[in-house]
Amino acid sequence: MPPGTLITIEGLDGAGKTTLAEALAREAAASGAGGRDVVLLREPGGVQLSERIRELVQSPALTVGARAEALLYAAARAQLVQERVLPLLDRGALVLLDRFVDSSLAYQGAGRELGVEQIRAINRFATAGLQPDRTLLLCISPHAGRARQRRRGLNPDRLELEGDEFFARIDATYRELARAEPRRIAPLDAEQPPEQVLRDALAAIADLL
Ligand code: TYD
Repeated sequence: MPPGTLITIEGLDGAGKTTLAEALAREAAASGAGGRDVVLLREPGGVQLSERIRELVQSPALTVGARAEALLYAAARAQLVQERVLPLLDRGALVLLDRFVDSSLAYQGAGRELGVEQIRAINRFATAGLQPDRTLLLCISPHAGRARQRRRGLNPDRLELEGDEFFARIDATYRELARAEPRRIAPLDAEQPPEQVLRDALAAIADLL
């Protein structure tokens, strides 16, 4: 594994990943991060090809089958890892990544019912086996996640238009992944105020900062 540190942030839509990721990037940079560069990236996206794939895969105007969807997310991830994440980790940076492989395990593996192990296999290929040092899992009930999104008032993307069972399967699988890998995945209560979520997140990565 390269010398840098990779921290991923996961959770249902509406859990507050982006807010937390931005706050963590600020805190880590303010603390000096041990002289490391702090870089915040998001998935799908982060590099040109992956941002283009993001537009395709999230567009409600396109028909995208479940298998194609899984491969598109994996392709976007492969490019981001090769073009940005690995070079940053090679020079020792602290990389904060808003979503990574666990999103595909939960959304495509469980949400789309393609099977977690099959999705794990294509993502092992896509990422050449890159593993996060820590994953912060923002836990929120699907109902509360939806309510927050409605309050934001943005037009839902193609995945956000799915029904309650889809998000219930994703939520259950995220929690199972956390139980299976307790050293990597730290579940955080995302229904608390953002300042408390930030404090919990900082405690969960203190050994890496
Ligand atoms: P999200 O981080 O919620 O972006 P935004 O806040 O800008 O809408 O991610 C977009 C959607 O992509 C989200 O509904 C989850 C989905 N997604 C997957 O289904 N699989 C994946 O592997 C990734 C990275 C995202």
